[in-house]
Amino acid sequence: MDIEINLLKKEILQCSKCHLAASRNHVIFGEGNTNAQIFIIGEAPGRDEDLQGRPFVGKSGQLLDKILDACGFTRNEHVFISNIVKCRPPDNRIPTPQEAATCMPWLLKQIDLINPKILILLGATALKYMAGADRKITRERGNWLSLQNRLAMPVYHPAALLRDPSLKRDTWEDFKKIVFKYRDLVNPEHYSAHV
Ligand code: URA
Ligand code: URA
Repeated sequence: MDIEINLLKKEILQCSKCHLAASRNHVIFGEGNTNAQIFIIGEAPGRDEDLQGRPFVGKSGQLLDKILDACGFTRNEHVFISNIVKCRPPDNRIPTPQEAATCMPWLLKQIDLINPKILILLGATALKYMAGADRKITRERGNWLSLQNRLAMPVYHPAALLRDPSLKRDTWEDFKKIVFKYRDLVNPEHYSAHV
């Protein structure tokens, strides 16, 4: 398994299937535990991620880490984090449908190899590209979906929470559902100080 993941990583780091390759500093493969039961899907790397080569290291990432911590989850142990597209779109625009479609086989291979029980769809872009363009994050957040034979929970993107802190209350309810499901499916003893 780890051999396969490392081969996949090597391939992804060399990808030039779309024009985002030309302007990137790094391909952001993702990080976390490749045996994790939770796979978090973001939108795309931003400036900080492109410079550092790691996902969710800017302001959104700091908020994501706080939320994970409140759930008793760590990046190293409980989750793997990646994005719909693995290279930064210029000016942080939303990835186009074509960019997302070109990059999607990489994400699907990562999900296949890591084989998580739970997917977390962070924000409108992850929801739309994973579940269909007609999906609305405001309508579907907090409700389990079935995707690739796995449970998927759409939640607001941390950047949306930074723009509108009133969304944090709903988001915490959604993450509590994830902790309950993790106890059901993975580890009944999972400890969280807050859930
Ligand atoms: N926002 C995302 O969607 N992904 C990242 O990796 C960073 C910020
Ligand atoms: N708009 C977004 O782009 N993402 C969210 O999570 C919520 C609103």
